[in-house]
This record gives sequence, structure tokens and C-alpha cells, in this order.
Amino acid sequence: MSEETKPVGLARGLTNYGDRDFARYLRLSFARSMGHSTAMLAKPVIGIAGTFSEFNNCHRLVPELVAAVKRGVLAAGGLPLEFPTTSLGEAFLSPTSLFFRNLMAMDTEEMIRGQPMDAVVLVGGCDKTVPAQLMGAISANVPAIQLVTGPMMTGRWRGERLGACTDCRRFWARYRAGDVDAATIAEVEGNLATTAGTCAVMGTASTMAALTETLGMMLPGTAAIPAVHADRLRAAEATGMAAMRLAANQVTPEQIVTEKSVENALRVLLAIGGSTNAIVHLTAIAGRAGIKVDLNRLNALSDTTPVLVDLKPTGPFYMEDLNAAGGIGAILRELKPLLHLDCLTVSGQTLGERLEEPAPYIDRAVVKTLEEPLQPVGGLVALFGSLAPRGAILKRAAADPALFEREGRAVVFTSLEDLAARIDDPDLDIDADDFMVLQHAGPLSPSGMPEAGYLPIPAKLGRAGVKDIVRISDARMSGTAYGTIVLHVSPDAASGGPLGLVRNGDRIRLSVKHRRIDLLVDEAELARRQAALPPPSYNPPRGYARLYKREVLQADEGCDFDFLRKNPHRP
Ligand code: FES
Repeated sequence: MSEETKPVGLARGLTNYGDRDFARYLRLSFARSMGHSTAMLAKPVIGIAGTFSEFNNCHRLVPELVAAVKRGVLAAGGLPLEFPTTSLGEAFLSPTSLFFRNLMAMDTEEMIRGQPMDAVVLVGGCDKTVPAQLMGAISANVPAIQLVTGPMMTGRWRGERLGACTDCRRFWARYRAGDVDAATIAEVEGNLATTAGTCAVMGTASTMAALTETLGMMLPGTAAIPAVHADRLRAAEATGMAAMRLAANQVTPEQIVTEKSVENALRVLLAIGGSTNAIVHLTAIAGRAGIKVDLNRLNALSDTTPVLVDLKPTGPFYMEDLNAAGGIGAILRELKPLLHLDCLTVSGQTLGERLEEPAPYIDRAVVKTLEEPLQPVGGLVALFGSLAPRGAILKRAAADPALFEREGRAVVFTSLEDLAARIDDPDLDIDADDFMVLQHAGPLSPSGMPEAGYLPIPAKLGRAGVKDIVRISDARMSGTAYGTIVLHVSPDAASGGPLGLVRNGDRIRLSVKHRRIDLLVDEAELARRQAALPPPSYNPPRGYARLYKREVLQADEGCDFDFLRKNPHRP
């Protein structure tokens, strides 16, 4: 069929009854039952992937956003049709939201592909939702545009400004150390998350919003607008109109998510000191377009990308401050000499054309210049070595440099249960110079790679004033957390990686300078330990958990399912 005669709107992808004319007639008759006129049913269709859920606080205002998107689509002459997909609320899912990210990506992909739409607006926000939507949309390769719910506003408590969720962790650490009592922590609990929207700091949701704008999959200037700001509704309306342009021009995600735009996103990730989770998600997103994110390349970019903004968890500012300070555009302008400017975006402009427009107001208290950055090098580095042959991640921007070059004695926790049982044991044999090691919290563990890499400081050390200690695991860490924390150790312990072979008292050497993390145990001893490992005991018998266990990849491959990548490795 030629391009000219390709069906549009509801004539796309007819249900198979063996009679195309009957299928069209039946579809239109059912569509008319929803009260649409014949004229409306003939228009291009913009699908809207709605993710409202009462199990997802970050998406509380999705219905309002969807209404504004519809306004934009209607104004541009299209028919907006909302459809529901899986929604992932970070704090409401067990074992973790990451466990369900690929399920949401599959749901999103198949509903985009299976239903008749000329373009789709993806409405998401909470940590795993935006990666899942982008992964699905890239694989479906239908014109797509992302709209995020936007960050929460901060709240006030006893004269202090609070925002989820760095301040949640700060107060919890104080509570554990005995600085804050139970009544106070209960009061704080009610003042951390006081509006709709995603976490107010540079956590995973904010990082992914920034990267999505950088990739070109979101309208310029829309990543950081607070959830409750009227501008967010205007952004939603503009997104609906932009979706109509994408539909008319059939600009697909694979034209936008390219090797160059992914590299731009990595630059921004480093410049904002973004969440470590974003490496996993960006790797998975890129993998849907057949692009590999190489951790050695990340290190090369990290050495040449300065940190330009200082939001929590590393600095004093929140996302609402970044929005008022010029947003992601202000960061992109500074990074311009380091970026690939010929990348296409959903607005129809290239990144370079966007950045040629006159600069809006930029608050230099929040967004620094390339010449006078906050840090001369990027916020994240990858480490390799005998403990992490396929890599591990350290957020150096959120870590204590005094702990970067050292050797320590391993204090091992074999699982999350073991950690919970012993962390506050007064007899725990640990001091501030030791390295805490958590095993079996990676992608193949029953816990589904939780954000448990921010191991709590043992109570007895906390009470003694210890604020940081080297912590190593195959888990992830919330983008809102901080500390000298080595994460995503690959391969993970559950897949037989060296992390699972560490025993109490082993020596481990960390060198951030040399990008190394090594287990100082000879190979013969490691081989002996490997041979003595029990067979894996976690074998879910059925359902999604079974699929996940069989297909999930390691962190360095984005924890995607192999068969969902553009180029699966397995036959
Ligand atoms: Fe949804 Fe933090 S809980 S973004």
C-alpha cells in the first residue's frame, strides 16, 4: 500500500473478521455508541495513554492533564481517545516498581500497536512509568510524545522547607540515630509530600523527565513545571497539538531516540547529578532502539561533563527552583558545546534550533555556567574490577570523597532479611572503616532489585556520629538518597556473580580514581566458594514472576527482558 493510501484514524489496524469492509463498518458503529459524530470519527486519532490510579499519588492530576491534552488535540483537528494502561506508584508496589516496569512497557507497547491511533501521548511521571512508556512507544514505533505529571511543590514544617523524598530519608536517619522522637517523625510524615506530583528533588522521576526532554521526546521547557502549576496544563494542551503534528508528519520515536540523542541524555544525567536508576532506564530505553549504553563511554563522558545544578539530594534546591531558574533548557544551553545539536525533537525542531532561540531568564544561583560549574566532572561513574566484572555505579556527587581511595574489611549481609535482622544488633562486628556488603538484592533475586542499596548506617555507628560508610550491593538506590554507595554490581549475586562469593572478613579495594572495585581473594578460593554455592532456590512456578525470572537481564543491560530489545541476543 502506498504512503498516500495508508489508512488513518479509526481505519487503521482493523480487527480481523476476514472481511475488511465489515470490520470498518462494525468498528464505526461501535464507536458511534460513544456519542461521536461521523465527522469526528473521520479525523486522525491521537491515543492518550492514561495512567491515573488511586495506587499512584504522583498521578493524582492525570485526569486534569488528559483533559488538557484532549483540548489541544481537538483544537488541532484530531480525535483524542484515552486508554488505560498499567500505572506504577513507587511506594505501593511489592516487591518493587522496577519488577513491574517491563510489564507496563509491554502493556503500553501492545496497546499502542493493537489499537488504531496515528500518534500517542504518553502521560506518566512516577519513577518507572516514564521509562516503561518510552520503552513501549519506541518498540511500537508509532509517533509518540511524553507528558509528565510534574514535580510536587515543597511543604513547610516548623520553618523548614521539606520535599519528598530526600528529606524523608534525612529525618529517618535522624530518627534511627535517636535525634528525633516518634512524635516528631509522625509529624514530619504528614509534611513531606503535600501536593500531587512526583518527588520534589532530583530523584529518578525528575531525572527521567530531564532526560526525556533532552532526548527530544517531550516538548521543550516542560520537564520541570510543577504538577500544580497552571503552566503544566498549558504544556498538556500544547502536547496534544504537537501530537497532531507528529501524526501528520509520521515522525517516529526511532527517528528521535538515536545514538546521538542518547549521548546527549547521558551528558545531562551527569550535569544534573541525576539518579543512578536513570542509567538502568536509559540503557533499557536505548536498547529498544538497538542502541547500547556502554559504561566505559559513561566514564569518558563523566570526565568531560561538569555538574551544573545542585538540587537535593546533593544540594539545597528543589525541582520547583529549577523550573523557576530556567528549567532543563538552561542546562542544555550551558552544555551546548558538548551536545549533538542535529538531533530531531517532537517539536519538529532540532535541538540546535531550539537552543538558537533567545535565552529566557536563568537564575545562576541554581544553574551554574560551564565556565564556573559546581563540579568540574560528572556526578556518576562506573566501576569495574573483580567484584563487578560487568560494572557497578557510584554516584560520586552524593558520596564522601574521603572514602574514595581505600581498602576495607567486608561485613556481609546475605539478603535483605539478614540485613533487617542484624543491622541494629549491638553485637554486630562493624566499624566505620569497614565495607558493608549486601548480597541477593539484584535483578534476579526474589526481591526484584529494590532501592535497598542505601543500607542504613548500623544503629550503634549512627549513635556514635558516623554519617557515611562504604556500602556495596547489587541493589539500586533511590535517586533521592546519598552516601558512598556502590550499586548495580553486575553480574548480581543471584546469577552467580562474584558479589555472592564475598565472605565476612574479606578485603575489598575501592578506587574511584582508577574506576576499580576489587575483591582481594585469590581465584582458587573463589572457585572453591563458587563450587560450594547451593543451587538457586527462587523459581516462581507461574505468571509474570516466572516470565521475569526467565527473561530479565542484568543492570548493565537495563534490566529489560531480552526478547523485548530491538536486537534480542537469545534465539
Ligand atoms: Fe512517585 Fe517519587 S514516589 S516520583
